[in-house]
Amino acid sequence: PKRQRGERKEEGVLTTTSSKPVVSINPEVILASPSAFAAGQGEGGPGRTAGPGTGGLPRWQLALAVGAPLLLGAGAMYLWSRQRRRRDTGGRGDASGLKRNSERKTPEGRASPAPGSGHPEGPGAHLEMNSLDRAQAAKNKGNKYFKAGKYEQAIQCYTEAISLCPTEKNVDLSTFYQNRAAAFEQLQKWKEVAQDCTKAVELNPKYVKALFRRAKAHEKLDNKKECLEDVTAVCILEGFQNQQSMLLADKVLKLLGKEKAKEKYKNREPLMPSPQFIKSYFSSFTDDIISQPTLKGEKSDEDKDKEGEALEVKENSGYLKAKQYMEEENYDKIISECSKEIDAEGGRHRAEALLLRATFYLLVGNASAAKPDLDQVISLKGADVKLRANALIKRGSMYMQQQEPLLSTQDFNMAADIDPQNADVYHHRGQLKILLDQVEEAVADFDECIRLRPESALAQAQKCFALYRQAYTGNNSSQIQAAMKGFEEVIKKFPRCAEGYALYAQALTDQQQFGKADEMYDKCIDLEPDNATTYVHKGLLQLQWKQDLDKGLELISKAIEIDNKCDFAYETMGTIEVQRGNMEKAIDMFNKAINLAKSEMEMAHLYSLCDAAHAQTEVAKKYGLKPPTL
Ligand SMILES: *[C@@H]1O[C@H](CO)[C@@H](O)[C@H](O)[C@H]1NC(C)=O
Ligand SMILES: *[C@@H]1O[C@H](CO)[C@@H](O)[C@H](O)[C@H]1NC(C)=O
Ligand SMILES: *[C@@H]1O[C@H](CO)[C@@H](O)[C@H](O)[C@H]1NC(C)=O
Ligand SMILES: *[C@@H]1O[C@H](CO)[C@@H](O)[C@H](O)[C@H]1NC(C)=O
Repeated sequence: PKRQRGERKEEGVLTTTSSKPVVSINPEVILASPSAFAAGQGEGGPGRTAGPGTGGLPRWQLALAVGAPLLLGAGAMYLWSRQRRRRDTGGRGDASGLKRNSERKTPEGRASPAPGSGHPEGPGAHLEMNSLDRAQAAKNKGNKYFKAGKYEQAIQCYTEAISLCPTEKNVDLSTFYQNRAAAFEQLQKWKEVAQDCTKAVELNPKYVKALFRRAKAHEKLDNKKECLEDVTAVCILEGFQNQQSMLLADKVLKLLGKEKAKEKYKNREPLMPSPQFIKSYFSSFTDDIISQPTLKGEKSDEDKDKEGEALEVKENSGYLKAKQYMEEENYDKIISECSKEIDAEGGRHRAEALLLRATFYLLVGNASAAKPDLDQVISLKGADVKLRANALIKRGSMYMQQQEPLLSTQDFNMAADIDPQNADVYHHRGQLKILLDQVEEAVADFDECIRLRPESALAQAQKCFALYRQAYTGNNSSQIQAAMKGFEEVIKKFPRCAEGYALYAQALTDQQQFGKADEMYDKCIDLEPDNATTYVHKGLLQLQWKQDLDKGLELISKAIEIDNKCDFAYETMGTIEVQRGNMEKAIDMFNKAINLAKSEMEMAHLYSLCDAAHAQTEVAKKYGLKPPTL
């Protein structure tokens, strides 16, 4: 039986992990973007996508193990942790003394010994030791009650310990407060937990256990910002080694991102993607009426007369006019022309116009406007079945983007029912299955697509990618070799298919065959010099391969030069700037990406990145840690 990925808790690790680089960056996949799922809720959420190798491994561990395929996403966190590990192996490991102890049954934390807190030695020590000893005894009694589950009594004992403890015994005192907080936690008295932890942290600023407990209390009290700050401090102080705190950081980042995105997305201006993106999107449909160039006979006489005078547009032509604008790449006018056709009495191309309008609503990121149009096309029984199947594919992708995998699957299955010979259905359903991590079904769909359209290079390349993922997940090296050989065959058979090289390059990067991956990206660039995404991937490769930051940034700048709406480039640039310690620049980049986000989910993911970066800088400042740089 298929695992429900969302149900496995350790899967839900870092929001800050984008899976973009390891999933095919087809435009329609972006529309139902992988990072959309990364930004979704943790437990109980629908299929979350990850790199080829996530089988069972938490994603942040994967980021450590595999390195940069997730570097851009894991971003700040990843580098911090790498930095930390390097330093630890160097012998100092300043976080080690602060690790939460793992004993479950006692509330006591191993506080880091503050300077000058040893047992007093000089004159007058005797009296002090007495009161400290009495405080310790009260605490020990409290611990016994705690272990027995008698939390009220435990709290009394800890209170006694606090009042007995000499005020200059910071570390002991902080422990007593922390212990009392643990008892309050058991009673779910979150405000008291937060208050006692605050005392403990005031007395002992790097007291990880108290910080983490306060983070949890803030979570319960719905103080997300405070929770994020505390848990970020914990993650940094622990060197990103503790999964529990990573999980909480992930969770609160997602909640915050979602909240902000919801607010922002409502009020944003519709945004038309770049012409390259739009053309690439339409090219992913081959069995599609609306994206085919207008047939000669379809054009009205007036249109024929006007050919060559592109800008002179007749008021009443509706759909055909919209098609003409499409050929001219004058995309901003398409929605209004379609509306004219739809609103006109007895328009001949009503269904086509609805579908085209819906498609552009989707492209500008307005799903709520797209849905009724798609619903109409789908229920128009008299309409061409190709139109209805295409509408179902698009509605299915839209549902996927909204994290409704069941509705999505339903639509794709219905599309296959009504138009079983439509290669697009299988092609797009295969991509959905990859996102849902149902690799076997994905391969079957790609096979069906290939059977219907043997010349479909894209489907063959994606099939290889699915097989690669499957092999990687199954840790089967002979299958991995077979998948790599499959890629070789695809690029030999379809030397003009850029996507084949791009997907092969991703697999090669994953296999640490960097030189060859770089060659493949160069081939992509030769074939599609104006595809910005490829430059970003190539830039990331430089980072992972040679740690060549300048070259990486240069390539990503080039991507922005080619397409100044390339959100992926801004996101990546932002992450790199975080790692270089240029926070303002990073936040600027993230905000640019946020403004370009193609869906609310993607926007939420970007807000999470931005918040993570911000929190880490704040914490670094507060604790006097120098932000790591590449
Ligand atoms: C750009 O290239 C990527 C592969 O790197 C491909 O998936 C995508 O469809 C291309 N995008 C555009 C807009 O051409
Ligand atoms: C979506 O489109 C509808 C209809 O044009 C419009 O009223 C609405 O404001 C748009 N919503 C967004 C989020 O752009
Ligand atoms: C994968 O398989 C190899 C041997 O084939 C084994 O050494 C390794 O531990 C396996 N890795 C995982 C994550 O199962
Ligand atoms: C790897 O896959 C091959 C081919 O599917 C299979 O014959 C072999 O048993 C698998 N090996 C392992 C270790 O699972």
